[in-house]
Amino acid sequence: MKKIALLTSGGDSPGMNAAIRAVVRKAIYHDIEVFGVKNGFAGLIEDDIQKMSLGDVGDIIHRGGTILYTARCEEFKEVEGQQQAISNLKARGIEGLIVIGGDGSLRGAQKLENMGFPVAGIPGTIDNDVAGTDFTIGFDTALNTVVQAVDKVRDTATSHDRTYVIEVMGRESGDLALWAGVAAGAETIIVPESSYNMQDIIDRLNRGRDRGKRHSIIIIAEGAGTAPEMARLLKEKMNIETRMTVLGHIQRGGSPTAFDRVLASRLGGSAVEQLLEGISGQMEGILNNELARTSFSYVFSGNHRFNDMMYKLSQELSI
Ligand code: F6P
Repeated sequence: MKKIALLTSGGDSPGMNAAIRAVVRKAIYHDIEVFGVKNGFAGLIEDDIQKMSLGDVGDIIHRGGTILYTARCEEFKEVEGQQQAISNLKARGIEGLIVIGGDGSLRGAQKLENMGFPVAGIPGTIDNDVAGTDFTIGFDTALNTVVQAVDKVRDTATSHDRTYVIEVMGRESGDLALWAGVAAGAETIIVPESSYNMQDIIDRLNRGRDRGKRHSIIIIAEGAGTAPEMARLLKEKMNIETRMTVLGHIQRGGSPTAFDRVLASRLGGSAVEQLLEGISGQMEGILNNELARTSFSYVFSGNHRFNDMMYKLSQELSI
């Protein structure tokens, strides 16, 4: 393999740039030409593809976002779009592609692979909802962003004797809510993976108030409900002073943590190796701190496991 391309797709996540850097540098180290595709799969269809040099990835390891930009592309869902993408790659003599993104992006990667074009995947999403890896690129940074925000909210919650509902991202996954809730000592964590009982939440808040607690933090993943709705319910049922904060897209930005930079570098390097070894159709991941490859078909088999034990622990700790 002498020429490969790479793209970032779907929602961006901090650390994608570190992955791009790793792919470009590792490929050039092995005398392979690397091409960057702009705006994800849309750029593949539109032939927005440029050769990358070592200098293109200098000074980016610490930057959030993605220098290749990203998009969610409807056109690529059609076979015509996929065929166009492959024909644009082949016209440049590109023999392999690396896709960095979340679930939807890896599904796009699988489509090209199924059409016979070699593709390696790298999981990049703040949601951490991809099977075959313990962590996705960007999760740790987003987690730290959320925890910092919750710590700040807690200061003012204590001053004012208020209950706060904080909504975090995670359309289908409660990992960010769970980890942030444990790290920030939230009283209640609400996730899409588990149903909740309003009376339990009220009882827990009352127990805290009886002990003289002046603040309460409830973290809710967007896939499980909204902060305004939960705040309204609490006001209605308990008549306590409640405020809410929706953290939104600040969770996707910012300089990646050291953990995310190292993870991205390892996965990026291994993705290039995958193509060089003549393997494809695998997602790079990390399992028990070892690099691990998982076939796309397994990634989409619904095997991403929510950490039930940690969820149970969070409930025990917020007694
Ligand atoms: O998939 C990552 C994610 O950050 C989700 O947690 C969130 O629901 C979604 O992206 C938001 O996407 P958009 O930026 O397109 O609104």
